Amino acid sequence: MMDELTIRRPDDWHVHLRDGAMLRGVVGYTARQFARAIVMPNLAPPVTTAALGRAYRDRILAAVPDGLDFTPLMTCYLTDDTDPDDLAAGFADGTFTAAKLYPANATTNSAHGVTDIANIEAVLERMAEIGMPLCVHGEVTEADIDVFDREAVFIDRILDPLVRRLPALRVIFEHITTQDAVGFVDGAGDRVAATITPQHLHINRNAMLVGGMRPHNYCLPVAKRETHRLALRKAATSGSASYFLGTDSAPHAQDAKESACGCAGIFNAPFALESYLAVFEEEGAIDRFEAFASENGPRFYGLPLNEGTVTLRREEHDVLAAFDAEGTPVVPFHAGDTLRWKLA
Ligand code: NCD
Ligand code: ZN
Repeated sequence: MMDELTIRRPDDWHVHLRDGAMLRGVVGYTARQFARAIVMPNLAPPVTTAALGRAYRDRILAAVPDGLDFTPLMTCYLTDDTDPDDLAAGFADGTFTAAKLYPANATTNSAHGVTDIANIEAVLERMAEIGMPLCVHGEVTEADIDVFDREAVFIDRILDPLVRRLPALRVIFEHITTQDAVGFVDGAGDRVAATITPQHLHINRNAMLVGGMRPHNYCLPVAKRETHRLALRKAATSGSASYFLGTDSAPHAQDAKESACGCAGIFNAPFALESYLAVFEEEGAIDRFEAFASENGPRFYGLPLNEGTVTLRREEHDVLAAFDAEGTPVVPFHAGDTLRWKLA
């Protein structure tokens, strides 16, 4: 049995770092685990211009604890009114690494999202032209579509037509949750990739709904049935370069989750690598973990691989019931569980 694993420093290709006190309370967890992270722009108000992107990056860097070497990679929140010139200038000067498509009202702070993809066609054409990647929250929002079907319907109605229309556009289908998404990514060639979260590899929808409602296992896209979880585990550990690490760590105050209308989002930043590695070990694929965590993401984004390494050791440890984010309790993924790997 292997007791230690050293891999090239990994990155998180999808994280919510928030702002203000919450940002200061959580950013250190991500910065301790990852060299870089694609930072989601769904603040209130969202990061919709290059100037807002630079200001948010400065606030993140100011909040990173001393001694940690961490680079936030910023994304621009697309709206019906995104200015293609501002977006392209932000990409050219290194402010933005990618742009993010939130269908309007799909998830937390997405009210300003795109109401109809036709409204951003010129923006998407420009992105394809300049090689700027598109991050996609892949769910339709129509009230008549069942919440468990929203990802699959998004593929048929929006994503498949989009990648056919703009073959040069690089698309990251984020936090995929279904066998349908795996099928789509596998068939889409090398210009479409997907991130997979630790929670969607560990839990199915029972974890949310059996034995009482468990709001800390609720995120969007919502966890699906077991067949989907198994398809995601197979994809993540397959060795395919189309899949890489993106935690979707999304902290909310404990009382905002334990509420009559609880927020979507799972805070997994403190032990994300440990959580993923448990899955790769269970699948007999520890030798494929480094590609998923540290290689496939930068290659898809066209960025250099990180220098340096991190080491994980076999060491049992219990996960706290709640973390204190500058005065706000936040319940983590795996709260109260024992993890068997620990980042050195
Ligand atoms: C995210 C959040 O809280 O900002 N929530 C979530 O459940 N993942 C938004 C998102 O990425 O959908
Ligand atoms: Zn997210």
